[in-house]
Amino acid sequence: MTLAAQTATPNNAMVSLVPRISIGIFCDNPQSAAVMQAAANDRRMAKAHVNVETSGIVGATAAYAQEATPNVVIVESHGDCAQVMAELGRFAEVCQPNTKVIVIGHVNDIVLYRELMKNHVSDYIVAPFSTLQIIDSIAGIYSDPKAAPLGRIIAFVGTKGGVGSSTIAHNIAYAFSNNLDTETILTDLDLSFGTSALNFNHDGGGTFYEALSAPERVDSTLLDRLMSKLGNKLSLLNGPGTIERDMTFDSQAVDTVLEVVRKAAPLIVVDIPNAWAPWVRHTLLNADEVIITASPELPSLRNAKNLMDMLKAGRPNDSVPKLILNNVGVPKRPEIPAADFSKALGIEASAIIPHDPQSFGQAQGNGQMIFEVAPKSKSAEILEQLSYELAGIAKPSAKSGKFDLSGFMQKLPLLKSKREK
Ligand SMILES: Nc1ncnc2c1ncn2[C@@H]1O[C@H](COP(=O)(O)OP(=O)(O)O)[C@@H](O)[C@H]1O
Ligand SMILES: [Mg+2]
Repeated sequence: MTLAAQTATPNNAMVSLVPRISIGIFCDNPQSAAVMQAAANDRRMAKAHVNVETSGIVGATAAYAQEATPNVVIVESHGDCAQVMAELGRFAEVCQPNTKVIVIGHVNDIVLYRELMKNHVSDYIVAPFSTLQIIDSIAGIYSDPKAAPLGRIIAFVGTKGGVGSSTIAHNIAYAFSNNLDTETILTDLDLSFGTSALNFNHDGGGTFYEALSAPERVDSTLLDRLMSKLGNKLSLLNGPGTIERDMTFDSQAVDTVLEVVRKAAPLIVVDIPNAWAPWVRHTLLNADEVIITASPELPSLRNAKNLMDMLKAGRPNDSVPKLILNNVGVPKRPEIPAADFSKALGIEASAIIPHDPQSFGQAQGNGQMIFEVAPKSKSAEILEQLSYELAGIAKPSAKSGKFDLSGFMQKLPLLKSKREK
């Protein structure tokens, strides 16, 4: 990694989670400390225990003369190359051998960088820096460079029941796997009333509930057994779709299972039920991307606003949720115009899907996707466009004819190594 590459702010979808470690941070000014505190509050650092001080590298040396160093120590210095190396030399005398050290400096000096790397410093970051840069640097110490990049979790939630959130999630999962030729897993967290299997005319298979009942047992082998194949590159971790059992579980169980799921494919579509529970909130807060589907009606607007406000506040370093207005133009129904809906939420809709009972009704009746029953419809066109946006790649122009999918695969950021060292 070069100094120039390292100073760029990473894409929020590419930054990994920081494991359950303790981190001591010693900035030498309040501005740096504020960014560090924001990093400590980020969802990706939720498991780590972080302590932020403003006494700089000298303070760190004094503090750790009395106590053991944590897993990671981040120290800041305003010194030049010689001063940083001298201060670090004194710090090394109190630092345990297995502690990882990240240095924050104020000189963009390749000689200093090389000296630090020679002395087994894990990373050198030149101020000013961003929260994501810090999280990326810490996570990078613990990520296995040979491991496959983690899949991106895209959570779909509706503003009320029946707005079409699941239908859109299923069609997007289909488009990822089929039109974009990318390995995709659809997980149905609507355990009692989920329609994933119905909508794909599929029967049987293991379920998400079995995974959630014993999350610690879930590994790639068990996951393979529980998932059913819906297509060449599409797998389903189904909800049982039954009310015969009381199904309760906690946020941690969903987290544990999704951590295994995201190692199995680059794109994970999570169908979230229209319900409010601690695990729903937790799963939405921790997804890489959240898609809110709303109908153009007042209850949807209120609920969309509440969801948007909660998610913006809880995910300050992530992209804001995307809004889909669905089922727009139902005859005789008074509707809130899309422009007013967007204005009230302070966000443009990423897609506006028309009321299209013929295509959606036929798709549901057949257990097929919109792309199969009405490939030329406006709905299919909008959903395909959205699938490209969510995968982070540009849709090829119509003039180029058949898509060269191998080329697009290379452009998929998720398929590239997260940390090109
Ligand atoms: N744009 C649309 N036009 C017409 N019907 C739609 C549209 N979008 C979804 N539907 C239908 O609405 C119903 C509810 O959709 P569903 O995805 O189950 O909602 P949710 O998951 O939000 O509860 C389904 O029968 C679906 O086919
Ligand atoms: Mg649903």
